[in-house]
Amino acid sequence: LSCRSLENERTLAIVKPDGISGNYTISITNIILQSGFTIQTHLTLHLAQDTVTTFYAEHSTKTFFPSLINYMTSGPVLIMVLEKVNAIADWRTLIGPTDARKAKITHPHSIRAMCVEDLRRNCVHGSDSHESAAREISFFFPGYAVILDPS
Ligand code: PPS
Repeated sequence: LSCRSLENERTLAIVKPDGISGNYTISITNIILQSGFTIQTHLTLHLAQDTVTTFYAEHSTKTFFPSLINYMTSGPVLIMVLEKVNAIADWRTLIGPTDARKAKITHPHSIRAMCVEDLRRNCVHGSDSHESAAREISFFFPGYAVILDPS
């Protein structure tokens, strides 16, 4: 067992517009805290089109991109930095598959199974790798690193 695996790490979580408007925020934050994460910082924002376009730039060539931008600017979102050991992978497990119609069948206890309406509106976001977490955390919260400085 390496020491590194026992170090806290951080990930970026977003409660998306359907999560906020469906009143899932309190249930989701309860699940976050009960699962051993701490919420290091948070921000509620109605994202501008430019901001979402930059945040999701890696998907800009996908056919679903315009609909993703439209959805993510349709109402306020809650953006959080979560911290615990293995935060990135554990948060992804907790939210469940991207397609929540599948999540309801294969991961019935996941967050997306709880709150999702359709494929596009999947309620929550989680960074999918260490590299994404580093980029996404500093995108919204400059000065927050993905790994704590041990010094
Ligand atoms: S991919 O193609 O595998 O890289 O895409 P994926 O990781 O599944 O999804 C990337 C983000 O795009 C959202 N998404 C969609 N939005 C709208 N319509 C459709 N059809 C669609 N498919 C995927 C998906 O929810 C991901 O958003 P985040 O916020 O990263 O979860």
